[in-house]
Amino acid sequence: MTKEEVFARMKKNLSPSRIDHILRVVDTAQQLAERYDINPERAEWAALLHDFYKWQDQEAYAAALEASGLSLDEETVASQELSHGWMAAEFLQTSLGFEDEEIYYAVATHTTGRKGMSLLEKVIYMADRVEPGRTQPGTEELRSLVFQDLDRAVYVAMNQTLEYLLKNHAYIHPRTIEARNDLWRNITERKERIEG
Ligand SMILES: [Fe+2]
Ligand SMILES: [Fe+2]
Repeated sequence: MTKEEVFARMKKNLSPSRIDHILRVVDTAQQLAERYDINPERAEWAALLHDFYKWQDQEAYAAALEASGLSLDEETVASQELSHGWMAAEFLQTSLGFEDEEIYYAVATHTTGRKGMSLLEKVIYMADRVEPGRTQPGTEELRSLVFQDLDRAVYVAMNQTLEYLLKNHAYIHPRTIEARNDLWRNITERKERIEG
């Protein structure tokens, strides 16, 4: 499947504002790929596909999720916000032939992050968070930080997400907590190495 074919399929299932968001994520991911010296083509594919299943039609989405046979935890199954990345990662693997784990998880866990994130995973997570259309409080801080210190940017972004989820009495997926603590550990150890 070519990029144009993928794009045509996205236009069928996603809202125009979602498509615009995806294009901005692609653009931001490419800038970050250049900054952190990762393969721009893979960053582009991951960014293009990350919201491939953020379908507007909830019933059709629920049916597709059911038919996928993916084995996901209960909370992820219950939430399109949590499951759409896994659906897209499966598509990337089975229909587009990307077989490596790194790109799979960059797409699968772009909403939660996970412990031991690769550079590509961090780039996609942050591109989704700071693309120019985002206006949440704290985004400006992240926009400059992301080009200076990727680990710290993901760490700060995750803290912001956790604060938001707590404030709104929302479910917090354990993967986000594990990811945040993993980055906290990286940052703390790095600081100790520099100071000690
Ligand atoms: Fe998403
Ligand atoms: Fe997104």
